[in-house]
Amino acid sequence: IRHDPIEVGEYIGQYIAKRINDFAPTPERPFVLGLPTGSSPIPTYRTLIRLVKEGKLSFQNVITFNMDEYVGLAEDHPESYHSFMFRELFSKVNIPPENVHILDGNAKDLITECNTYEEKIKAYGGIELFLGGIGEDGHIAFNEPGSSLKSRTRIKTLAYDTILANARFFNNDITAVPHMALTVGVQTVLDSKEVVIVVTGQRKALALSKAIEEGVNHLWTLSALQTHPWALIVADEDATLEL
Ligand code: GLP
Repeated sequence: IRHDPIEVGEYIGQYIAKRINDFAPTPERPFVLGLPTGSSPIPTYRTLIRLVKEGKLSFQNVITFNMDEYVGLAEDHPESYHSFMFRELFSKVNIPPENVHILDGNAKDLITECNTYEEKIKAYGGIELFLGGIGEDGHIAFNEPGSSLKSRTRIKTLAYDTILANARFFNNDITAVPHMALTVGVQTVLDSKEVVIVVTGQRKALALSKAIEEGVNHLWTLSALQTHPWALIVADEDATLEL
C-alpha cells in the first residue's frame, strides 16, 4: 500500500525497471512484458519514461504484449488502445516498433487474430511480467464478471458498467463506446511468470476487497490471482478503504 497514485506509479515503475535490469535482456533472450491501458498505469508509465531518460532503463530488448483492444475502433482513433500506448509510453521510450504487440480490433478474422496472439506469446516463451489494472467490477484486462478463469485471448462483449465507466473517454457519450473488445484471458494472465496489479482510487475499493478477501470466483476475475504463485497488488490508500 502506498499513499497515492503517484507513489504507486513510482513504486511499480522502479520495480519493473529492476526486474528488467536484473534479467539483463539481450536480443536472443528478451524480457517479455505484458501491459495494460487505463488511467491507473499512467503514473507507472511516467516513471518508466523518466528512468529511460536518466539512462537507468532500456526498452531495446523488451517485447511487449498489450492486454486488450476495442473491436471496430479505428487504430488511429485517440481512444484506441494503440493510440493510448504510443501516446503514453512507446513514443517516449526506446522500444523498437517491431517489439510492440497489440491486438488488432479491426482484423478481418477476429478469432484468428486472438489465436495468433496466444501463439506469438508462446513463441517468445511466455510473459515474464504482466502489469495490469482492474475495472470497478473487478475485471482484469476485459475479463468481465462471469468470464471463465481458464479463458484465453478472445472476443468479449463489454459489461454495461464498463461501457458507462469508459464513456468518460468518449465525451460521456455511451453510444460512442465500442461494445466489444479483444482481450487476453484470465488464464493468459495467470500463465505469466509474475503478475503486478495497480489499483488506485476509491472507485476500485469494493473490487479490491472482493478479489482478495473473498474466494476465487469468476464474478471478480481479479480474484483468480489468489492462485498465482507470484502476484503483487500495489494499491493506494483510497483503494484499500473496504479492506
Ligand atoms: C479498461 C481496461 C482495463 C483497465 C480498466 C481500468 O476496462 N480494459 O485493462 O484495468 O479499464 O481503467 P482505469 O485504470 O482508467 O480505471
